[in-house]
Amino acid sequence: MANNLLKGKRGIIFGALDEHSIAWKVAEKAHEQGAEFVLTNAPIAMRMGEINKLGEKTGSKIIPADATNLEDLEKLIAESVEILGGKLDFILHSIGMSINVRKGKHYTELDYNYLTKGWDVSAVSFHKVMSVAKKQDAMADGGSIVALSYIAAQRSFPGYNDMADNKSYLESIARSFGYYYGKEKGVRVNTISQSPTPTTAGTGIKGFDGFLNFCEAISPLGNASADECADFTVMMFSDFTKKITMQNIFHDGGFSNTGISEEVMEGFLDKNMNK
Ligand SMILES: NC(=O)c1ccc[n+]([C@@H]2O[C@H](COP(=O)([O-])OP(=O)(O)OC[C@H]3O[C@@H](n4cnc5c(N)ncnc54)[C@H](O)[C@@H]3O)[C@@H](O)[C@H]2O)c1
Repeated sequence: MANNLLKGKRGIIFGALDEHSIAWKVAEKAHEQGAEFVLTNAPIAMRMGEINKLGEKTGSKIIPADATNLEDLEKLIAESVEILGGKLDFILHSIGMSINVRKGKHYTELDYNYLTKGWDVSAVSFHKVMSVAKKQDAMADGGSIVALSYIAAQRSFPGYNDMADNKSYLESIARSFGYYYGKEKGVRVNTISQSPTPTTAGTGIKGFDGFLNFCEAISPLGNASADECADFTVMMFSDFTKKITMQNIFHDGGFSNTGISEEVMEGFLDKNMNK
């Protein structure tokens, strides 16, 4: 499907940890479509060295940066503009982490130090990335910035824990920052609300497999894969979506607008259930 949708476009892709990562797939697809970009991840995530393989495959330089650290971001964005030879047309924020989820803390009894850290990594970092890019005037006119979100921002999903609150905040930042970035620089800012996807971050959620199957059974089109999410992200970076901004767009096979499906109902046909 390579048709040069992103030919001549430059960008930064945050969050490719391994080949399952959504950001990894976006990098592969963006490369296929002619984009040039810098890859980045937290220094600690580079230890496995997996990202080097992706860098070789896509001909991309790799610059470590903790997305919560303003100095790291300043260096990353300035160096990226220099390496790529011009302003950025796109940025992907594909970052999420909750220590409360990792440590199995119940939502009603959160550790607030963990909460603050997870909120900074998963949501505030999006503001920091855009704020640094804007201060450096690093985005080209009409550029596109995308972050990945999840429907737990709107509806309750037990087990998603404080990541639900982080995603609500993330989506709100897209709207609020998108207003100013749009007015001043014509830059688009959106979030893509993706189906559950088997990645390192995804499988960290309690009961993930059952959940994946449930969503598959509810969604008329089935769950959206990481590859499909990457295709959609590439489209959001392309010139075909120039007037879409400040939106949270569901990329979920129809899950978000489905009440019940026949497949799910079949599991509840036992007549004795209500007696
Ligand atoms: N997998 C799912 O089910 C799913 C569904 C909807 C949305 N998402 C979102 O997609 C995004 C990508 O997640 P994924 O599923 O590809 O998992 P992933 O684990 O492959 O990616 C998460 C990335 O965040 C990076 N990260 C963590 N802390 C960081 C920091 N301080 N600075 C910079 N990077 C940091 C990790 O190193 C990793 O590369 C996340 O925002 C996630 O919440 C995932």
